Amino acid sequence: MKIAVLGTGYVGLSTGVCLSEIGHQVTCIDIDDQKISRLQQGISPIYEPGLETLLVKNTGAGRLIFTTSHKDGVEGAEIIIIAVGTPQRPDGGADLSYLEQAAKDISGHIEKGTIVVIKSTVPVGTNEYIKKIIEEKCNKEVMMVSNPEFLRQGSAIHDTMNADRIIIGFENKEAAEKVQEMYRPLQVPVIFTGFRSSEMIKYASNAFLATKISFINEIANLCEAVGADVEDVAKGMGKDKRIGEAFLQAGIGYGGSCFPKDVKALLHTAGRYGVNFSMLKETISINDFQKEVLVKKAIKRFGELKGKKIGILGLPFKPETDDMREAPSINIAQSLTNLGAEVVAYDPVGTEQAKKIIGDTIQYVSSVFDAVLGADALFIVTEWKEFTQLDLASLMKKMKYPIIFDGRNCLEEDRIRQCEKIEYYPIGKQSILSGEY
Ligand code: UDX
Repeated sequence: MKIAVLGTGYVGLSTGVCLSEIGHQVTCIDIDDQKISRLQQGISPIYEPGLETLLVKNTGAGRLIFTTSHKDGVEGAEIIIIAVGTPQRPDGGADLSYLEQAAKDISGHIEKGTIVVIKSTVPVGTNEYIKKIIEEKCNKEVMMVSNPEFLRQGSAIHDTMNADRIIIGFENKEAAEKVQEMYRPLQVPVIFTGFRSSEMIKYASNAFLATKISFINEIANLCEAVGADVEDVAKGMGKDKRIGEAFLQAGIGYGGSCFPKDVKALLHTAGRYGVNFSMLKETISINDFQKEVLVKKAIKRFGELKGKKIGILGLPFKPETDDMREAPSINIAQSLTNLGAEVVAYDPVGTEQAKKIIGDTIQYVSSVFDAVLGADALFIVTEWKEFTQLDLASLMKKMKYPIIFDGRNCLEEDRIRQCEKIEYYPIGKQSILSGEY
């Protein structure tokens, strides 16, 4: 099939690359000409495992093209997929201006039978609204399909190729079947629904997962108080198939470009329709609290943090990405510097992005060793695999005090106990003090 994808962010680019990989002829369109010219050279604008390999392979095979021209990209396409951003407005709602612009940009090129798919995360009612905009502009009936995306950053290609489900929200049966046909090689279960349910599925899924994280984080805080171990508790809970093991990893709160924005947008929608979804307010406030727990633990340990040197390991909101949006490291760095601590941070890929957001109030170094050297304490903020395999015993000797606050519970207890002297403060578990104190 001939497919056009508007927007080359995480969702658009991963979708375009994967659709070309399964044999479709795909043109990706973006207004950012620098981004497009890099993509034409096979360079991915984002750090995403496996993406660049498929990018090079499919552009080489002529199945994947990049352009800034809507006319070139959209003309003749059987399916146009809109995957532009819907950022958060100051009032918590979703900003639809990129989507409105995309609708206007394609409307001059819509032919009879062209299907327009909205993949961007959009509030209830948006598919109907955009359909109206395009129809008013092009004076034809448009076949719309709502098709939200559930991929995670860091595993975007894997998630697109191995999705749990594909949601197709439709009014027109022919359009729905064509979109199902486009995805057929992936052999993923498809759920057909109306526009509004499809739009809700995306928000309800993300809000549920965010709430699951806030729930386990509250359980973690309680575990610390009562002397239980949150990892054992999560394991025991997760074995119940009705609960499930995923997303019960306690830590320092969720971040990223989706959960924080989508929970707020759903709360905003609820408010607009007069529904008091107070549970979501708690999900948000627990998450805000959780971003501060490492700093609170450090204050409890040291009394005050003024003049203390704190090494931070990990900056992005999760491993395998350089994305700093809503990352807990931003709050942690800010709180530590406000309290007069000196912060030295290391991350394998996120430093450049972090500099743009956190700025020069902290120091950035290029190795774990440099972050640890002479530090009063170490904060583990992102659970990169390389941090789980550190030679702890020798690293602890380089610190002023061998103290670790592990915000992701990513260090194995056995390895900690092997250190001659260490103080280890995890989340939702008892601390470990080994050696002489
Ligand atoms: C999420 C959804 O998973 C995805 O389906 C949706 O399309 C976009 O939003 P993403 O933001 O890429 O994907 O990251 P995800 O892996 O879901 O993690 C989000 C945040 O939750 C991270 O900050 C992560 O550290 C945190 N998290 C996740 C936990 O704290 N505990 C967990 O058990 C799982």
